[in-house]
Amino acid sequence: MAAERTSAQCFAVGFSGGSGISYGLRLVEVLLAAGHEVHLTATTAARRVIVHEAGLAASVEQVDLVSLFPAPLRQHLRVHALDEVAAAPASGSARFAATIVVPCSMGTLARIAHGFSSNLVERAADVAIKEGRPLVVVPRETPLSVVHLENMLRLAKLGVIVLPAMPGFYHRPLAVADLVDFVVGKVLDRIGVDHDLVRRWQTPPSPPAPPTSPWDEGEGA
Ligand SMILES: Cc1cc2nc3c(=O)[nH]c(=O)nc-3n(C[C@H](O)[C@H](O)[C@H](O)COP(=O)(O)O)c2cc1C
Repeated sequence: MAAERTSAQCFAVGFSGGSGISYGLRLVEVLLAAGHEVHLTATTAARRVIVHEAGLAASVEQVDLVSLFPAPLRQHLRVHALDEVAAAPASGSARFAATIVVPCSMGTLARIAHGFSSNLVERAADVAIKEGRPLVVVPRETPLSVVHLENMLRLAKLGVIVLPAMPGFYHRPLAVADLVDFVVGKVLDRIGVDHDLVRRWQTPPSPPAPPTSPWDEGEGA
């Protein structure tokens, strides 16, 4: 059931062609379920990855982003075409609470880092940077070349949150969904959206003190 929209915010989400479209789909689902509005754009490569990773029996052109989300959640989902440069995410006056590119391919990351704005995903990121609003990118690649690392450093220096899709294992995941939720939870933490996707790390209790040896108490020799 969708949460009340009293504190609803508006988020711009871009899917690009990195592996891990599950991260993007889950993020949008959680935001919509919490009553937030999501403006979603996908690159052509992202649509290709969706077909492949979601196992869709559709061509890239046939991918319908809206249909990827449960019907009750679709009310506050706005899907934009990649070339829709007049859409809200392309404008600084739209005032999104945050913009998230997830997954973020190395190509999109490079173009954002260098201000290319050649499509709506890149333009939305460019707008967030120029307006000083939160921008989170979730890159997925391994190994990382110097080009990738330099582009990430460039973005981090601009205040962009570079949050690689690197799930931890300390929450003892049992399923792929747990790994996805780990990364999505990290994104939600950075955009200020409450969630209970992951059990938070708690410092383990100190081990009990070892039994005192009689030798320490001067009972022996
Ligand atoms: C199934 C699949 C998985 C891919 N995984 C990655 C990846 O993890 N990281 C990456 O940077 N590119 C990946 N690519 C390649 C990008 O999709 C490709 O470089 C594309 O041009 C990126 O375009 P975009 O940045 O406009 O989305 C993948 C492509 C496919 C088809």
